[in-house]
Amino acid sequence: MLAQAIEKYQQRVDNVLRNKLAELDDSAPELKAAMSHGALLGGKRIRPFMVYSIGEMLGADLALLDNAAAAIECIHAYSLIHDDLPAMDDDALRRGKPTVHIAFDEATAILAGDALQTLAFELICQPNDNISAQQQLAMVTALAKASGYSGMCGGQAIDLSSTDQRINLEQLTQLHNKKTGALISCAAELALIAANASQKEQQIIREFAANIGLAFQVQDDILDITSSTEELGKPQGSDEEANKSTFPRLLGLQGANECAEQLINDALSALANLTYNSQLIADFARYIIARRL
Ligand code: IPE
Ligand code: IPE
Ligand code: MG
Ligand code: MG
Ligand code: MG
Repeated sequence: MLAQAIEKYQQRVDNVLRNKLAELDDSAPELKAAMSHGALLGGKRIRPFMVYSIGEMLGADLALLDNAAAAIECIHAYSLIHDDLPAMDDDALRRGKPTVHIAFDEATAILAGDALQTLAFELICQPNDNISAQQQLAMVTALAKASGYSGMCGGQAIDLSSTDQRINLEQLTQLHNKKTGALISCAAELALIAANASQKEQQIIREFAANIGLAFQVQDDILDITSSTEELGKPQGSDEEANKSTFPRLLGLQGANECAEQLINDALSALANLTYNSQLIADFARYIIARRL
């Protein structure tokens, strides 16, 4: 059931993204191609999965969630393009393909990231009879906060300043919560907004998503050591080579695995108080730490 749902939502968000990119005129063909390279070639689409699966569980129409799902993937794609740049992680492989600055050039990669970021907000603000302007404004605010200083960008800055440094568990947790957790939590938030969720539902889903978000980056750190470049489609050992602050580095592999498991148990416990059938998102939570990619 999980694998089928992942594929269904993947195809759904890919259609939205493909159509949106196809609408762009051809005045800057290199930039358009670089945006497509960064946004359309592969990717697990776990953030769109969360928008769709949580939104649908709470009774929102899938069509209402399309632009939010595509928007969060645009932000994510932009974050990866910039993350791979020489000034940041300096990686040449992503999703089994050359990174955007390798396939094109650095300037084009910077602009492709920028343009995908703004495309995200264009998508969310697109007129839609079934979403109120107030809901759209709430989505814009949530996405902006999760992407910027208080979220992903702030986390990336802390990631860079923590490289070659020894930081403690509290600091590393904050780093991971910001650089990765914030956007994953935002995926859930967009679904809550679209579904007009109650206070209680919001509280439960926020706790679920916060645990998933941190566990996702802990598992990403673990896979950097235990997986292979072929499986990952990105360079195995990149963190070690760059002397990054990661969970396995701080806690050891076993400690990191235990931490990820605890986070997923906490995410699952949160779901116990929900009055909806949460089987799908519970399976998804387990997948976060079982995945090899
Ligand atoms: C990788 O994200 C970067 C992190 C935030 C850990 P994903 O593992 O979601 O990357 P794709 O989109 O599937 O390639
Ligand atoms: C990236 O973390 C988080 C982002 C905000 C993009 P990583 O640098 O560990 O992601 P990968 O391993 O390159 O995908
Ligand atoms: Mg990085
Ligand atoms: Mg990286
Ligand atoms: Mg990583």
